Amino acid sequence: MSAVVIVGAQWGDEGKGKIVDLATEHADVVVRYAGGPNAGHTLVVGNDKLVVRLVPSGILQPHSVCLMGQGMVVDPAVLLTEIEALEQRGIKVQGRLFVSELAHVIMPYHVLIDGLRESGAAQKIGTTKKGIGPCYEDKVARRGIRLGDFRDLDRVRTLLAAAIDAWAPAMKAWSATLPSPDALLDDLAPLAKRLLPLITDTGALLDEAVRANKRVLLEGAQGTLLDIDHGTYPFVTSSSAVAGGACTGAGIGPSRVRRVIGITKAYATRVGEGPFPTELLDEAGTRLRDRGGEFGSVTGRPRRTGWIDLPALRYAARVNGVDGWALTKLDVLTGLDPVRVCVAYDTPSGRTADLPLTELDRCTPVFESLPGWTEPLEDVRTIDALPKNAAALVRLIEDKTGIGADIVSVGPRRDQTIVVRDIFR
Ligand code: GDP
Ligand code: IMO
Ligand code: MG
Repeated sequence: MSAVVIVGAQWGDEGKGKIVDLATEHADVVVRYAGGPNAGHTLVVGNDKLVVRLVPSGILQPHSVCLMGQGMVVDPAVLLTEIEALEQRGIKVQGRLFVSELAHVIMPYHVLIDGLRESGAAQKIGTTKKGIGPCYEDKVARRGIRLGDFRDLDRVRTLLAAAIDAWAPAMKAWSATLPSPDALLDDLAPLAKRLLPLITDTGALLDEAVRANKRVLLEGAQGTLLDIDHGTYPFVTSSSAVAGGACTGAGIGPSRVRRVIGITKAYATRVGEGPFPTELLDEAGTRLRDRGGEFGSVTGRPRRTGWIDLPALRYAARVNGVDGWALTKLDVLTGLDPVRVCVAYDTPSGRTADLPLTELDRCTPVFESLPGWTEPLEDVRTIDALPKNAAALVRLIEDKTGIGADIVSVGPRRDQTIVVRDIFR
């Protein structure tokens, strides 16, 4: 058994791209299991930077096979643009990238509806406006259109007509109109034709790899607190971001998963609306944003910044079954003094070390302060070489969550990493 899940433990943007790209050096197959082009996973090799939104973050390691699982929602135009950008960089995609025939297609009307809803809503979610929510809604309403359907365009035309009918009352309320199935197909058919050679039964490919004892990475998107079931609902995305979602989203049985690695920054960020109890609205927050480059990789929006939340991490450890942490962006805390860490919450019914998920807006975080450090960390390669106070923060996170750090990341590049333990061990 050699499948390892890499899952975001916060509100996304924890550094999944970097860690998956790095870990792919030792992996044969990488599968993205959830979300769509709402994700932006940054890969930095040397001085080169690339953001992938749909394609798995293993694509830069030439030996790996990359699969996009059926838990994903795929915008064909975005995927083709991404593939072109990769090919322009000389990265081979043909024969290495395969997309599930069961993955649902984000249609132009999903993007339109996402935008209309966000602009008019009394309670905004702050979505990425990439059509994610409406596409998953159609999937659950059993009127979605899957990539494999494009093998038969007449079938797609019929499905489009039914979906357009279903959205008609909402469109009327927004005084908007949708294109006809034929007009939509005129645009979509050429895109689908180019994608068809990549579309296959990725679950079968994954099963073959697992049976052959290949090393498999299951790459999450978004993060635990954005998960549709386990996140800060309704301020969440519409997919199963947690480790359990890797099984349904990639098509692999739980008994085949060997380990779960939770990724967390050494502080916290969130994009979009919703509760964020440890948020910093002062100069320290601005400093974290500037030093950490905390601007959305998809939308460019400034990310909200705050202190690390250990009750939230303990919660993420529980719902994902985290075996080890990948702690990222420790270098960003250099120069902040003190460094604060949320260790508990004061709730209407008393103090708790657990995350009061459903009443976050009525709770106050309780902080511990740690002395900071001034040394840059980018060149540190072992835990022992960390400044004493940085090592103390890592230890506190490990102690309070009961989970060790397998990886500590001290910069965006692959080599700027302290590998404590092999994640495939
Ligand atoms: P993802 O969505 O989880 O893949 O994360 P993003 O790529 O959206 O955001 C993480 C950002 O932090 C990217 O710009 C990464 O290049 C960068 N990054 C990742 N790890 C580190 C680190 O340890 N230190 C610093 N300074 N930057 C990092
Ligand atoms: P990665 O994979 C951070 C957030 C949006 C919004 C909410 C719902 O890069 O970590 P959606 O467009 O999904 O309906 O928006 O979820 N969100 C993310 N935030 N990183 C992401 O992905 C995100 N994907 C969605 O900002 O609050
Ligand atoms: Mg991101």
